[in-house]
Amino acid sequence: MILEKKIEYKQAKVLFSKEKLDERIKVLGAEITRDYKGKDLVVVGILKGSFIFMADLVRAIDLPLQVDFLGLSSYGDETSTSGVVKITNDLSKPIDHKHVLIVEDIIDTGLTMQYLLEFLKTRSPSSVKICALLEKPDNAKTKIDIAYKGFTIPNEFVVGYGLDYAGLYRNLAYIGVLGA
Ligand code: IMP
Ligand code: MG
Repeated sequence: MILEKKIEYKQAKVLFSKEKLDERIKVLGAEITRDYKGKDLVVVGILKGSFIFMADLVRAIDLPLQVDFLGLSSYGDETSTSGVVKITNDLSKPIDHKHVLIVEDIIDTGLTMQYLLEFLKTRSPSSVKICALLEKPDNAKTKIDIAYKGFTIPNEFVVGYGLDYAGLYRNLAYIGVLGA
């Protein structure tokens, strides 16, 4: 029998307000609009963490584009990644000869993204770039080139705006810290 671990639901302390996120996403959207003009762009959101960021980001990009999603999950409710990733939902269409922009919530060790880049390369896209809302460089185990980055944060566990702890907190409108 599988017993679900009980977690105490604590209030998250605001790190980035909805206003701050909106402001930064407008800038990222403008940069992406400038860089992909005239290109066949597919924006690929990594589920589940990127779903809210993705929805706001694509509306800040003033170009014809397609969206797709890749479902990934790492195992367990731990607050650190093992680097063991499972594809739970594949892309709905081929990406060969398309310019792919991966949208990810956060890059921590970088192991998930390293795996993902290798996986997408086998599908022969014209280019692959990364847009990540957050990066925790203190925890990096591999060098990941983030073309469009929202914010750099210290090594703290954050939740909200799509990011979860044990499946919870994704629906917060802001990014918060689960402090002691
Ligand atoms: P990485 O493989 O260590 O770079 O981990 C990336 C994934 O771990 C992210 O896509 C998140 O799902 C999860 N993750 C890492 N840090 C946090 C955090 O502070 N809050 C919520 N999820 C996180
Ligand atoms: Mg994620």
